[in-house]
Amino acid sequence: MTRLKDKVAIVTGAAQGIGLAIAERLASEGAKVALADIQIEAAEQSAAKICATGAKAIAVRLDVSKLEEAIAAADRVEQELGPIDILVNNAGWDVVKPFLETTPELWNKIIAINYLGPLNCCKAVASRMQSRGSGKIVSISSDAARVGSTGEAVYAGCKAGIIGFSKTLARELARYRINVNVVCPGPTETALLKTAMAGREKVLESMARGIPFRRLGQPQDLTGAVAFFASSDSDFVTGQVLSVSGGLTMAG
Ligand SMILES: NC(=O)c1ccc[n+]([C@@H]2O[C@H](COP(=O)([O-])OP(=O)(O)OC[C@H]3O[C@@H](n4cnc5c(N)ncnc54)[C@H](O)[C@@H]3O)[C@@H](O)[C@H]2O)c1
Repeated sequence: MTRLKDKVAIVTGAAQGIGLAIAERLASEGAKVALADIQIEAAEQSAAKICATGAKAIAVRLDVSKLEEAIAAADRVEQELGPIDILVNNAGWDVVKPFLETTPELWNKIIAINYLGPLNCCKAVASRMQSRGSGKIVSISSDAARVGSTGEAVYAGCKAGIIGFSKTLARELARYRINVNVVCPGPTETALLKTAMAGREKVLESMARGIPFRRLGQPQDLTGAVAFFASSDSDFVTGQVLSVSGGLTMAG
């Protein structure tokens, strides 16, 4: 499929996990992709693998919690690949702990990455999209935002914030033909989930049993929804939230 032919995409947190699967999918549909991550060496290796398929990909160092880095990354992507058509806010991070055991230092870090990160990247990229009168923004939230998740109070709050933020941005930017949508993964087998659930594999098993499709998600499961929101197939769809979680969450 080449519905993203020559589109330029930036995917944050694309060195590994869901972000890497998204970058690979967008590249396989013809996009030129920038893999933006704090883990620059891993991002470079992942970009090289994508290039080996004949697609165009670059790695860009970016800490999404810093607005000036987001602006610098957007500048670099536009210089090397051209005007950015697609922004995927995927970078995320969490430590699972009961809320009453957490500290303001931990809250600040979780908020800086999971909430301020997408704000910084939207600020850096959306003004460019606005001046061109087109663009696609897709943010990765979480089913934790929709139904809560024990041990993830601050993270779930950030992810819920992303939904409210995205719906508002969708309204503000529709006049510039910019679409803003959200994808919510359920529990998905990545490094983040492994670390979060270390020593609690039994909980993970029972979580999988509670999913109508009776398995955890794989990074590739998320990519079709993101590619849809990144493509012209979704030109008349904005401010929407789609769970990709095997039916775990069925919002009315
Ligand atoms: N895995 C799950 O079960 C699950 C469930 C719901 C939502 N999500 C969300 O999906 C997204 C991807 O998560 P994943 O499971 O692939 O995690 P992961 O840990 O495998 O990958 C996250 C990537 O983000 C990068 N990153 C972290 N902090 C960053 C920062 N400050 N700036 C730039 N990059 C940064 C990491 O280096 C890593 O490459 C996250 O937003 C996460 O919250 C994951």
